Parts: sequence; structure tokens; C-alpha cells
Amino acid sequence: MMPAEMPRDKGRPADAPKLAPSILSADFARLADAVAAAEAGGADWIHVDVMDGHFVPNLTFGPKMVADLRAATRLPLDVHLMIERPEDWVARYADAGATYVTVHIEAARDAAAALEAIRAAGARPGITLNPETELARLVPYLDRADLVLVMSVHPGLGGQAFIPAALDKVRALRAALDARGSRAELEVDGGIKPQNAGQVARAGASVLVAGSAVYLDPDGVTAALAKLRTAVA
Ligand code: DX5
Ligand code: ZN
Repeated sequence: MMPAEMPRDKGRPADAPKLAPSILSADFARLADAVAAAEAGGADWIHVDVMDGHFVPNLTFGPKMVADLRAATRLPLDVHLMIERPEDWVARYADAGATYVTVHIEAARDAAAALEAIRAAGARPGITLNPETELARLVPYLDRADLVLVMSVHPGLGGQAFIPAALDKVRALRAALDARGSRAELEVDGGIKPQNAGQVARAGASVLVAGSAVYLDPDGVTAALAKLRTAVA
């Protein structure tokens, strides 16, 4: 018999970070297959990168894509809005079935109102910041967020190298969240590979996003997730 406090599922310890594959690196013509593969391979969440061609120099998914993904998987949908004027869009992504909706502090005109609008629309609010943005800008919003996301690459593209300075932000946020008794998720996004995932987890992350490491691994999605799982065990 397994001790009740030990395995969550699949024998993982309760404090192992969750894995959130980013479909940005998947085949956009086969996204249902991509989320099914992630689910079958033991992913915890699906990370959905929304880009508007203004906040970042790339374009991706509207709310309908989130609604269609919602019907394609049982996993939580973790929607990362890299868009200007997120206030105008958060309710539509929440209504589409996003579990978490995360806005950039640099893009929000009123971050508190954006977080409140996400919660009012029935999703969990998240806040994030670019690599060059001071952590202090995020601190006033920590108590309003269910998720805090540290960008470890410049948003806009998959496959970039991890920026090591992000680890200092993760450690500082872990301390700040713990000091508040906050149970908010602490997520890290960008450049996460089996080689650095352990370091990110030890810095205090509770969710690791991985795009290219999952969807561009020649060994396939299940093997890629297993490598990340081993790296953080
Ligand atoms: C970057 C996105 C990331 C991206 C990560 O703008 O926010 O979620 O998909 O991709 P990798 O893991 O390849 O750095
Ligand atoms: Zn992202």
C-alpha cells in the first residue's frame, strides 16, 4: 500500500513541479494531436501562448482556439497573454475555457483591474514580467494572483536560450510568496530543458513551461516529458 502523503499520481512526490508543455512549438495544423500527446505523456497543464503582433513580434491564437482546445483535452489550459490592452480580452479568454489567464505587467494599463476581471470571469488570474522588468513592479499584485510567471526568455518565440538571471527572480518570488503564506503557483517559462529544469525547480518553481523541449524532441512527447520529470525528481 502506498503512503497517502507520498504519490500524487504516477508515483510523483507531492511537491514535484508541474509540467506545462507549450503548444507554441507544436504543429499548429495538428493541435488536437499535440494536446492529446501531452496528456497521454503525463503533462499537468497545457500552456497556450497568445501573441498579438504588437506586444511581441509574432501572432498566434484567438479565443476560439482556446475554446476548441478546451474541448480537446481535460488538462488545465494555462493561457499566457502576450498582448497589448489585455483588459479588453481577458473575459473572452476566460469564457473560452482558460483555467489560468496571465497578463504582462508591462502591457496592462491597470493590472489590478485586469486580475480582478479574470477572477470575475471565472478563471484564475496570473501576472508576469519580461526578463528586463524589475521584480518590484510585480510585488504589489502578488496577493491578487493565483499564478506568478517568471519569463526566462524574451517573449515572442520558442527555442531561445534560458536567461540565468531569471533564477534570482524565482528565488525572490518563492521567498515573497512563502512569507505571505501564498499558495499561488510560481511558473517559469522559456528555455527550460532537462539540463536546467532541476535548477529551476530547486529555485522554487511549482510549474515549468517547456515548448521546444517537449514538441521538438526527436524522441517524441512522452520521452521528452519523462526526461523533464526525471530532471526535477
Ligand atoms: C515565449 C513563450 C514560451 C515558449 C517557450 O514567448 O512564452 O511559452 O513557448 O518555448 P521554449 O520552451 O522553447 O523556450
Ligand atoms: Zn508562454
